[in-house]
This record gives sequence, structure tokens and C-alpha cells, in this order.
Amino acid sequence: MHHWSVYKQLEEASKAAADFLAENILASVKARGVCHVIVPGGNTPARCFDYLIKKSLPWEKIHWYPGDERCYPEGHPERNDVMLREHLLAHIAVSHFHPMRAELGAEQAAKAYRETIQAIDAFDIAFLGMGEDGHTASLFPGNAALQDNQTVVAVSHSPKPPAERVSMSLNTLRQSRLRMVLAAGAGKAGIIERIRAGDNFPVNSIGDIHWFIDEACLATMSEEGND
Ligand code: 6PG
Repeated sequence: MHHWSVYKQLEEASKAAADFLAENILASVKARGVCHVIVPGGNTPARCFDYLIKKSLPWEKIHWYPGDERCYPEGHPERNDVMLREHLLAHIAVSHFHPMRAELGAEQAAKAYRETIQAIDAFDIAFLGMGEDGHTASLFPGNAALQDNQTVVAVSHSPKPPAERVSMSLNTLRQSRLRMVLAAGAGKAGIIERIRAGDNFPVNSIGDIHWFIDEACLATMSEEGND
């Protein structure tokens, strides 16, 4: 079952998402002594991370993993880990962020990252974004990567540049203990309305989701609710 939380602006949705992340990080660390968190790329999560880094958390017990990475050279401004650096990575120990080596190319980087995460039976939190076509991480509608059951998959022919990417797979996201999506802007109202109407996309193929969205994403949704 999806749980929808709707806020006036992205700012409030970001704060609420940060509160929810912190609450579940603490619960994971209390239950298992560690928390493995998948984090999104794109632009939307920046303010959420700004709120999160101000919280009192057991940072030494949290490990962070990109949900996907774009096959650009290291340091390329369009890489997710470069965008994450400003808002999150600058505030955590380097050893606690596990980058995808997408500069190696999709296949080789996916193989290497499967080894990186092989000891993790299930991520505690999968924090994701969503594109206007219903993609999440680098899992795009109709893409062959959706059929790949490995834990980390090589993506080609991505409709969102660059064409080559590396992504956590549908299975890995499905097996996460908890999934949350932060999305905002009128551009995403159409896809959210279709998701609410029951149409299937990669983002809502991963299991129950805690949605944090702003009113601009609203089409014909009630303020908050489940479905
Ligand atoms: C990527 C992201 C992707 C992103 C969505 C939303 O590499 O592009 O991982 O899944 O989360 O496209 O992006 P915005 O937050 O910029 O709208």
C-alpha cells in the first residue's frame, strides 16, 4: 500500500522526508546496529539532505549508496555523486559513501557494484526520486534493464542523458525494508495521477512507497491517504 503525504511546497516535503528518514535510520540502527541507505540522484533531494545533515544521528553507523549513477568521468558535474557531494557527502565520512564506478562503463561498473553490495541482504531504506515518465533510479519504462534480476544492472539507451548508466535493480529496491519517494513540481502531476489510477511504471513496481510530494504534483488527490 502506498502512503501519500502532500505538502504546500517542496521545502515542507523535504523537511518531512528528512524527518522520516531520520526516524527510520534510528529504528534500523536500534534493530540491527547499522543502516544501509540508498539515496537518489537528480535535483529534488538537495533540500532534504540539507535538513538531514542537521540532525543528531549515529552517522558512524550509517552507510550510503547511490540508487544509480550516470556513466560520466569522475567529477563530471552531471554525476549523481557530484551532486550528492555538496548536500550530503561533504558532511559524512568518505568511507561511509560507496560510489558506483560508472566511469568504468555500465557493464563493468555494475559488475563491480554487485560485489560492493553482496554482503547486504536488504537495504534498510531506499530513498528515491521519480522522473516524469515514471522512472526511478535509472530504471526507465520499457528498458531491458527492468528484466535483469541481478542486484545492480547496466543500463543502456536511457532516454534521459546519458544513455549509459548503472542502477540498483527492481529486485534490490523491492527487497529494501522501506521505500520512500520525494517528488515535486507540476511536471510530475500527470505521472502521479496515472500511478494513482493504477497504471504501472518502474517507480511503482518496487513495492509499497511512502510518498512525499508537493501540491504542484497534485492532480485529483486528497490531502493525505493510502491506496
Ligand atoms: C538520475 C536520477 C533519477 C532522478 C529522477 C528525478 O540519475 O536522473 O537518479 O532517477 O531521481 O530523474 O530527477 P529530478 O529530481 O532532477 O527531477
